[in-house]
Amino acid sequence: MGDTEEILKQVHLLIEARTSNADWLRDLCVLLQRERPHYNWVGFYFLEGNELVVGPYVGAPTPHTRIPLDQGICGTAVRERKTVIVPDVGQDPRYLACSLETKSEIVVPIEHEGWILGEIDIDSRQLNAFRADDHALLQTVARRLAPLLAQETAGRA
Ligand code: SME
Repeated sequence: MGDTEEILKQVHLLIEARTSNADWLRDLCVLLQRERPHYNWVGFYFLEGNELVVGPYVGAPTPHTRIPLDQGICGTAVRERKTVIVPDVGQDPRYLACSLETKSEIVVPIEHEGWILGEIDIDSRQLNAFRADDHALLQTVARRLAPLLAQETAGRA
C-alpha cells in the first residue's frame, strides 16, 4: 500500500502538469487506485444546483450519474458538509448501490471558502476498508484540489 507522503508527492506532480493534461482528474483517480488497491471505484461528483453529477472516475460504470442531495451517502456528505465513512454499506439504508460487490465507502467533500464544489467518492470490495490514514490522505487531496476546481468553475461561468 502506497505511503501517504509518497502519494501526495505524485498528486502534486499531476496537479503541476494539469494544464497540459485534459484527463488529469481521471489520472488522479487512477493514481489513487494504483497506490491503494482496496479503492475499487474512485471518482468525483460535482455539485450542480441540487444534484451531484458524476465526473471522472475509474471502476465499474455507475447507474448513479446524478444524485439528488437528499439521497445516498454522496448526498449525505454534502448536506452534513463532512466526510462520511460507511464500514458496511449493507447496514446503511442511505446507501445507493453502484456495484453489488461494494462493501464499504468513503465520501469526502471538496469545499472552498465555505462552498461545496463536489466530492471524492471511493468504494471498496472490502468491509471496513477505510481507516484514519485513508481519511487523512483524501482530505488532503480534497483541500489541494478545492482552489483549482473553484478556478475552473469560475472560468466556465
Ligand atoms: N454509493 C453512492 C452512490 C455512488 S456510487 O457508489 C458510484 C451513494 O450511496 O451515494
